[in-house]
Amino acid sequence: MPYTTAFVRESVRTPPPAWLLARDMTAPTAVTDRCTAPADTAILISPYLIHRDPRHWPNPDRFNASRWTLPHTKRHRYAYLPFGAGPRVCIGLHLAEVLLTLTAARITTHYQLAVSTPATAPTFNSVLLPSRLSLQLTRRAPG
Ligand code: HEM
Repeated sequence: MPYTTAFVRESVRTPPPAWLLARDMTAPTAVTDRCTAPADTAILISPYLIHRDPRHWPNPDRFNASRWTLPHTKRHRYAYLPFGAGPRVCIGLHLAEVLLTLTAARITTHYQLAVSTPATAPTFNSVLLPSRLSLQLTRRAPG
């Protein structure tokens, strides 16, 4: 299932369901070389923007599962954050990746999918949701 896994990885790159992460600074914290967040402030980290940064992702707006099957290209360790990072990284990340891969494989083995209403701009809720995306599923012939 290497291509299905690649498809799933690309699906949570653009767009990432968890599009905004928040942290409360309990002590002054260096955010970049030039910027330190003072204590008692909140900072927001946007995987949505980071995943679209052309410094890390060539043609960032293009859905391209093949970028995950190419020989490993060196990428910044925090350029891909669909499951967060660091001590609070998603505890279910491996389970989620396996479930998404098996679900995608299962659906596409039995059904052909066609977009009947293309998605409009996504809804930026607590997680990012596709707006008014409508799909038509046609059962594949057995065998
Ligand atoms: C596509 C599926 C999933 C996505 C996109 C996702 C995303 C995330 C992200 C971004 C975080 C970090 C939040 C932060 O840094 O503030 C997180 C944390 C967490 N996730 Fe997931 N997750 C997924 C599935 C799951 C599953 C299947 C489980 C459990 C079986 C799970 C359990 C958790 C838990 C417990 C945390 C909190 C970890 C902590 O704060 O120490 N997640 N998730």
